[in-house]
This record gives sequence, C-alpha cells and structure tokens, in this order.
Amino acid sequence: MFNSLTALPADPILGLLTQYREDNHPNKVDLGVGVYKDPLGHTPILDCVKAAEKIRLDTETTKVYIGPTGSASFNQLMGELAFGASHSALLANRVRTVSTPGGTGSLRVAADFIKRCNPNAVLWVSDPTWANHTGLFEAAGITVKTYPYYDYDSKTLKFDQMLATLNSIGKDDVVLLHACCHNPSGMDLTTEQWDEVVKVTVKQGFTPLIDMAYQGFGDGVDEDAYGVRQMAAAVESMILCSSCSKNFGLYRERIGACSIVAKNSATADITQSVLLYVVRCLYSMPPAHGAAIVETILGTPALKQQWLDELKVMRDRINGNRAILVDKLKANGVDRDFSFIARQKGMFSFLGVNPEQVAILKQQYSVYMVGSSRISIAGISETNVDYLAKSIAAVL
Ligand code: LMR
Repeated sequence: MFNSLTALPADPILGLLTQYREDNHPNKVDLGVGVYKDPLGHTPILDCVKAAEKIRLDTETTKVYIGPTGSASFNQLMGELAFGASHSALLANRVRTVSTPGGTGSLRVAADFIKRCNPNAVLWVSDPTWANHTGLFEAAGITVKTYPYYDYDSKTLKFDQMLATLNSIGKDDVVLLHACCHNPSGMDLTTEQWDEVVKVTVKQGFTPLIDMAYQGFGDGVDEDAYGVRQMAAAVESMILCSSCSKNFGLYRERIGACSIVAKNSATADITQSVLLYVVRCLYSMPPAHGAAIVETILGTPALKQQWLDELKVMRDRINGNRAILVDKLKANGVDRDFSFIARQKGMFSFLGVNPEQVAILKQQYSVYMVGSSRISIAGISETNVDYLAKSIAAVL
C-alpha cells in the first residue's frame, strides 16, 4: 500500500534545522527555527529550570500515569499566568485547562475540540500566520481561511481590512489571533486595536482562539497577555493555546496548555469532558516532566522571580538584536529602510527580501531563514551580525 505514496517536501521551518547542521561553513548563521540563543549561539537551560529539576528529582515518588488532564497544579498555575490570578473568568470557575504536548499539541487538541463543537466551523487565520497553523487544522478536517493582517510593503498592520473581514465572520466560526509576538511578522495589535477586536468578537459572536506561544517575549508577562485577558472578560466562549517551549526554554520537553473559557461553570464541565475525550483519542495523556518543572517554578516564589528575571534577559537580548541588525545594515551601506525591524516584537520579522535572495543567502553565504524571508532575531549575535549584515548587503 505504500507504493501509492509520493514524498512530501520537508517542513518549511523544521527542514532548515537539518540543512543548517549539515553545513560546514565557518560563518553559517541560523535565523530559521524560533529558538532563543545566547551570545555564543547556544540555547541554554534556564537556571530556574535546572533548580526545579533538582527539586523534582528529590521529591518525585512515582511514574504512574498522570491522566488526560495532566497535572492539576500545572493547569491551575498556567491559567493564572495567562489570565491573571484574579481574572473574572477564573473567579467564576469558567475556565478548564489541560496540559498538552507543547503548543502544537495544544492547537491540535483545540482543533479536534472545535470539530466536535461544530464540524463545519471555518477557522480564520491571519495572513500570514505560523506556517504550521494551516496544515495542523486542515489535518483535523477544518477548513482554513485568512483575514488580512500584515502589509509587506508598508511593514504595518492592515488593521482596517482585518476588522472589515472580522465583521463578516459569523458565530459558527473560529478566529485565531496571536496573543503577542506575531509569528511570522513581529507586528502585534496595540492595546487599542485589541479593544476593537474584542468589540467585534462580541458583536459577531464567533469564537476566538488565541495562540500564546511567546508570553513574556514582547513587553512582559502581563503586558503580553492584554488581549487574552480582555477577550476572556468580554466573551462567552474562548479557546487559549499556550506553550512553555520558548518562555521556559523547554522546547524538547513538549509542554503547553489548552484552556477553554465557557459561559458558566456547568458548561465548562461539559467542555472539560469533551477535552478529555479528545486527548484520550489523540495521545492518551501528556508527558509529565515539563509540567513538573513549570509548576515547581511558578509555585515557588523565589524560582518564579528567577524565571521572570531570566525571561527579561532573553527578551532584552532579542530586542537589542533588532536594533543592532538595523544599525549594522546601515553601517554596511544598505540604504533600504530596515528600521521596521527595531519597531517589531518577539522572535520574528520578515526581512523583506525575495525568495531568490533567500536562496542565495543560504547557498552562497550559509545564512538560513524561512523561504518567506522570516528571520529568527534570536539567531543574531555580536559575533555573527557583521557577517550577516555584509551578506544581506551583498544580495540586495
Ligand atoms: C517557529 O515558528 O520557528 C517555532 O514555533 C518552531 C516551530 O515548531 O515551527
């Protein structure tokens, strides 16, 4: 039966990992997959994570099945981190959270959950969005459509067009919004724009699905959750997919969470039963190690403070990289305006070069970025930025 298969192309983001590893160029630069890197190009384990792992090693007493919801304590702490401990939705007991294998696992749980709510629901995603959103939801049998978002020419949001499309979406559909650090464009909604989007969501009655994969990488843990918190306070139903891959640096541990906000506690209990069914059919139950680390950090005041401090170091470094790249491009005689990179947020921006230039950067200069010219800002460092700026200048 395998004879009917044809080979599929490598994933546009993850495929770059292998190509980069196999490249022997001494100055190769990895701006592909979104992972934090320190000035030496290393992705470190956070000190708070190491400390939490030590605690778990000493205190863990069993490896028995954890169950489809995952860790109750992790779920509660993740809810508080996202919504804020005193959020009205939490106080009204309207939120149910399950631990998931990473942010991608959370999105897939959400996809199967949506399919059970309404098999005909259309999922609306920003144009552009994370390269895996479309495939992931289509794999769950959901039709995906786009709403206007990023203007590649002016490097700004197409906010009026976005609102116009949202104003045409009905109550049976779902709209995916990025909480912060929009992947791939780096262009976020302002708080005023979030307020507008919340208003339209309430008026139209569609269900918002907010993907929060970078909480703390934009302006701060609370600032980055502005849209999530406003939305959850205003709407009857909402889905939140969060990830601990980037902000806790737990990439390979695969830990995230899927939270459903329902109109009341009784409905929330029903959604929980559906979530558990979905999880059982997909992967039975989530891995426990990452959740144990996160709950130890968030549940221990000194470790939580250490985490917030380490997160700030990562955030400041990425923002610093943005300014450094803009300056170095100028210093290398590039007269095209790249100042937008310094104004954008989070791990990514579009460099704005064409696919041929992306290919030349890879083939001739060993500078790796996604075909759309999305660059992972965290891959820039004091040691590679001169070479990077010279390479970009050369292809321009
Ligand atoms: C990215 O966009 O680079 C990250 O979210 C990693 C991934 O899985 O694509």
